[in-house]
Order: sequence, then C-alpha cells, then structure tokens
Amino acid sequence: CGIVGYIGYREAWPIVLKGLKRLEYRGYDSAGIALINENGQNIYKKAGKVAVLEDFAADQDRTGTIGMGHTRWATHGVPSDRNSHPHTSANEKLSIIHNGIIENYATLKEELIGRGHEFKSDTDTEVLIHLIEEIQKIEKIDLLEAVRLALHEVSGAYAIVIMDKDHPDRLIAARKGSPMVIGVGKGEYFIASDATPIIEYTKNVIYLKDGEIALVTKDDLLVKQLDNIVQTPLIQELELKLEMLEKGGFEHFMLKEIYEQPRSIKDCMRGRIYPGEGKVQLGGIKEFAEKLKNVDRIIIVACGTSWHAGLVGEYLIEEYARIPVEVEYASEFRYRNPIITEKDVVIAISQSGETADTMAAIEMAKERGATIFGICNVAGASIPRLTHAGVYTHAGPEIGVASTKAFTAQVTVLTLMAFYMAQQKGTITASKMIELLTELDHIPEKIQKALESNDIIKEVAEKIKDSRNCLFLGRGSGFPVALEGALKLKEISYIHAEGYPAAEMKHGPIALIDEEMPVVFIATQNSSYEKVISNIQEVKARKGKVIAIVTEGDTEVKKMADYCIEIPDANEAFLPLLATIPLQLLSYHIAVMRGCNIDQPRNLAKSVTVE
Ligand code: G6P
Repeated sequence: CGIVGYIGYREAWPIVLKGLKRLEYRGYDSAGIALINENGQNIYKKAGKVAVLEDFAADQDRTGTIGMGHTRWATHGVPSDRNSHPHTSANEKLSIIHNGIIENYATLKEELIGRGHEFKSDTDTEVLIHLIEEIQKIEKIDLLEAVRLALHEVSGAYAIVIMDKDHPDRLIAARKGSPMVIGVGKGEYFIASDATPIIEYTKNVIYLKDGEIALVTKDDLLVKQLDNIVQTPLIQELELKLEMLEKGGFEHFMLKEIYEQPRSIKDCMRGRIYPGEGKVQLGGIKEFAEKLKNVDRIIIVACGTSWHAGLVGEYLIEEYARIPVEVEYASEFRYRNPIITEKDVVIAISQSGETADTMAAIEMAKERGATIFGICNVAGASIPRLTHAGVYTHAGPEIGVASTKAFTAQVTVLTLMAFYMAQQKGTITASKMIELLTELDHIPEKIQKALESNDIIKEVAEKIKDSRNCLFLGRGSGFPVALEGALKLKEISYIHAEGYPAAEMKHGPIALIDEEMPVVFIATQNSSYEKVISNIQEVKARKGKVIAIVTEGDTEVKKMADYCIEIPDANEAFLPLLATIPLQLLSYHIAVMRGCNIDQPRNLAKSVTVE
C-alpha cells in the first residue's frame, strides 16, 4: 500500500523508515525495507506495524545509501513475515516492492514453476520479480529492458520499485493504475506512493504517468514509456507543507481533522462564492458552463464516504438545478453495461484521487462519450488528471483513515456545484441565491458551534460505548448523513452499525430494537421533522435508546429522546454539513473509549488502489 525509495548520498534507512511512518495513514498490515551496501543486500520484513520492523532491525546492519521500503495491505496471501515486501528473485539478486495486483500471476507462476522457479511467498509480487529475472536470463539484456518486457506480460495494476544487488547505483520504478511520485533532490532522488514521505527533503516532484518506467540514479533520471519512447518528465512544485502532516497538539489525526472543518470548508469556498452578488464561480468547470444548460442527466460515481457525499449531492442538484441525478458505487457501475450518452455528465468523487474502481468507472464513461468532472482532495492525483474538468476540495491532507474533513469538503463542493448548475439553468431566483450563499458563507461559524457540543457527545459516547449494534436513521439529506454516521462508527470502533432511511426502519431493522439498541436520529427541524418524530416514537415504544441530533432550542424531541445533541439552525440545504459533525465526534470518542486504533483502524486502507 505504501512505497518509499531512496538513492543518493545519505543513509537510506532513516529516510525510508520515516517515509514509511508518514505513509502509515494509508493503512497496512506489514512492512519491510531493503538496503544495499558494500557488503551486499539486507532485507528486513515483518508482519505488523512499522515500529515492529524498526525494533526487529535495531541491531542489524542498516547501512547503505540506496534503499526501499514498503507497507503492505494484504491482497494475495495473509499478512505474515514471508508475504511482506520486498520480495526477491530466485538468485536473490533482484528485489521488488509493489502496490497493486498482478491479475495473471497464477498463469505466470505456473509457467515459472515449470522452468524450475521456487517461490518463497504466496504473493503475486514475487511472481513478477521471478519473471523479470527469467526474461533477463533468457534475453541477456539489462534490467531496465527486462522490466519493460516483463511489464508487457502482466495485466493488472502496479507501482513497483526494483533494486539490483549487482548494480547498487540504480533504482527502477514503474507504474500503471497505482500512483507514484519521484522527488528530485541534488545528488539524490526519492520515490514514493504519495508525496508525504518526500516533502521534508524536496518540493520538486515528478508524477510518473501510467505506463511509464523510470531508471533512477543519484544524479540522473530516465523516463520511458513501456513502448520504449523516452519522455521528458515535468517537474512540479508541491504545495504540501510539512506541518500539514503533523498532529498539531491533537491526540489523533482524526480529531485534528474534525476540528479543522470550519477552516477547511472556508478554504473550499474561498474565491468561489459571492454572496452579495448571488454568484458562484467554479473556474475548474467553467468551460462546460454552456453544456450544463442542456445536460440530460448527472451520474455520480464514488466509493465509501465519497459515495455518501454523492448521495447528498443528488438531493442538492435535483432540488436546485432540477437535473436528474444517479449515484453509483464505482465498483458496480464499471462492471454493469450502463447507459451513458454524450449528453451525460459524470461526477467522480474521490478524496485521494487514486481509488482504482473510481478510476475505472471514469475511463468507461469517458470511452462512451460522457463529460467527466472530478471532485478530489489531492492535487495532481490520478483522477484529476483523468477527468475533463473538476473542482478541488482544498481540505488539506487527510491522514486519519476515517474520512471527516474530506467528506464535508466534498459536500461543500457539491453544494457549490448544485448552485452553479442552478445559476446556468436559471432554476433559482437571484434573491434566493443571495439568501442561500449568505447563509453558506456563515456555515464555518456554525460548524464551530456544532463542535462545542463535544463534552455532551463524550457523555453520550460513555453511555453507548459497549453496545454491539447501533442504528442511524435520517430522512431526506439526513439519510446519507445517517449512512456516514454508521460508517464512521463501524470503521473505527468495530461496533456493527447500519444507516437507514428512517421510514424504512419499519421494513426490517425494527426487529432488532430492544433496550440494548442505541438508535441515532437526525431529527433537526426541517421538512421531515414531524415524520422523524413519529419514527422516534416507534423506537421508544420498543424500548430502544434514542440519541437525537436536534436543532438548537428544540423542545419536542427532547421530551422523547434519551440524549439530545444540538446543532445550530440552518437551511435544509446545509443540514448535512452540520449534522455530520456530532456523528464524527461520537464515533471518535466511542473508539477512544474502546481502546481502538483511531487513525489506522484494522484492515482499512486510506486509498484503495486495488479493485
Ligand atoms: C477507502 C477509505 C475511505 C474512502 C474510500 C474512497 O475505503 O478508507 O475513507 O471513503 O476509500 O476513497 P476516495 O479516496 O476515492 O474518496
């Protein structure tokens, strides 16, 4: 899941190790590092956290000015020392680290076994390095060429780095469908799966493109396409700052990111809304402004939390721009045979901009002629480069695996897009627009206010922390909020949680309700308030424990609910932005009380670059 490589004049171990720690947020289950020095090659790998690897190698030889490290998120083969990367060739001279999946590994493995290869792990990665070794042996070519030819033989996704014990002056890197960044220093190069391990050493980076292969020495870099055409790489400057990657006094990244939301939402709206004039400006999609006047339909594709943001977007775009919207799981969409026309606009939402399924959905929709907009948080990631146009969320790096500020920023962008589309289509009056934007402009302050309920939320968390199940219910745009609340809870506290449209409760989940079952309601004063109150009564009648997110000053729900958490009053359009905040804090406190790993929950990855 995470890749770090170094070649230069400094000791590689501390750089690679620190880099792996910076990448821990991506989620992983084992780690390993390979180094070459004048005595040969040393590889250390262990299941578990980077700290386990660090301890394990503490009294070993860790010298060498070339090295690479990996954090693995198991796909083929259980997390174990032997399945951890780096993997080596049969003669143990070549070593490899790999993100992604080699889909045809089984066939290749069989062939290689037929040629006498023995394998030390269950991974697809080891097959690739044996294949490279075999090609090099047969063709008698240099390593770069052997890697290039081998990559023609494999299908699937990869970002790889390869070292050769006999040539300690070079690293080879390649990518297809899995991200890779090369940091350009003076007399040194850095390689990583994202820019976070690189930022402390250099701001100059090259994003390797799909189908490119690079030969990196300490002073030079050669980039080729897989078809052997030499490329001139574009050096870009990173906007990332080191302090964005630190916890800044908070106990966990997740908490820091929850508290950053007033600011991140402000950053997201900056220069885009003009409340006085009742105008929204979205430079990233303005060349398609005309197209939006006649668009037939919008399809939103995303995964996980981003998909929940998409559901909020559906409410907003249909309500204000009156364009039909469908929201699809990217993983389902790509394998159906969906009807897409040139008149459709597809909006792909992705925090990381690297999610494999979302990328594949974009490619398919693009082939079928749709216009693709992206909503991404990571500048320069793969998705923004695949789309025709897009709007960045500008939430800053999100390190906690459970998405918080990226979600609210995605919802903010979708709100802006809905208003922008309404503006193009003339489905909203000028005075209504002024009113909505004026309120939106003050949402960051209201979020700040919502965060002030932290102490009450902590008390509620204490009461329900030992539950085995939890239900989240909401109506209208409160429904995706309920889904997101449930997802947050299950992700970081491992309590089984479900989000449901409140009225659907009667068709199933009601069977689960007893005095043990906490039910969290989004019960703010909006168009479905009365209906939600009826649903609360249905839960109370079955002795369920009701926790309600209510509008400040509410008296009705307070009479029925066991616990109420207040959020400021707001137009229904902005409800998801506010109601999400207490749910994030609730999950956070419950998970802390249960002693869970907040920022790196088990089995989860921050960006899922495999399908
Ligand atoms: C993973 C992450 C989630 C995220 C989802 C989609 O599952 O753990 O937090 O919502 O991927 O990721 P994306 O980067 O495309 O938004």
